[in-house]
Amino acid sequence: MILCKTISDLTRVLNAKKASNQTIGFVPTMGALHAGHLSLVKQAKLKSDCVVCSIFVNPTQFNQESDLKNYPITIENDLKLLAESNCDVVFVPTISEVYPDGLKKSQAAVLGSITMMFEGAYRPGHFDGVHTILKRLFDIVKPNLVYFGQKDFQQCLLVKKLIAYYSLSIEFFMGEIVRESDGLAMSSRNVRLTAEERKVATEIFKALSIIKQNWHKNTAANLIAIARKQLEMHPLIKIEYLNCVDSDNLLETVDKENVVCLIAVNCGAIRLIDNVLLP
Ligand code: PAF
Repeated sequence: MILCKTISDLTRVLNAKKASNQTIGFVPTMGALHAGHLSLVKQAKLKSDCVVCSIFVNPTQFNQESDLKNYPITIENDLKLLAESNCDVVFVPTISEVYPDGLKKSQAAVLGSITMMFEGAYRPGHFDGVHTILKRLFDIVKPNLVYFGQKDFQQCLLVKKLIAYYSLSIEFFMGEIVRESDGLAMSSRNVRLTAEERKVATEIFKALSIIKQNWHKNTAANLIAIARKQLEMHPLIKIEYLNCVDSDNLLETVDKENVVCLIAVNCGAIRLIDNVLLP
């Protein structure tokens, strides 16, 4: 595995790969890698000649200073896991390499209304930062294929919009959510849960499963009410949103097809998101 810390190093390595007609599959990450990230690397490996993974904790997408400060950094372990997963190139740039003109963000709103809902509404500025970093990374790596996890479903929609908006020739792939054995969606933030919060966090997937299992037996409104009630029994859980919406545009729908159920909760001090595709 080749480690590149600068854009010029990465460009030199990737130009050589592209000159021999190799396709580039790209998995952008913020590190603290878990099985969800590694499954994206494995999927990228199946479809591309060269897999590039970036590790960069992007300051512009954190709407809370404390979240950025507490974001887990496990670079040595990340490099080991990527090498074991046969990643070909890892890009670990500094902040000044990525943002030579300072931490300026471009507006995500140009990508459409999906950027203003749910995560966009609860984390002001978050998608501006995601838009900025992904446009920058796509310009640097110039990948043929990109891989993102379904756990950040709204981010996946943003990436599709970004590719279309800038007319990039990039194929988008969404990898399924990888879960712990008790159903909790894998997330780099899970390590920050206390033992008690970690136990209660399993209620999130239980609530989503109630909705999925009964999707054709009840109305969405009733199912959401049942799931809410179950979650609200746990004082550590504070729901931010729990909605079943159209999976293309995130708008309210009465349809039973092409729906996604999105949830965000604060579990103690840690904010967790999850979703299921319906039916
Ligand atoms: O999903 C993430 O880890 C980040 O939002 C991403 C896509 C790497 C951009 O910083």
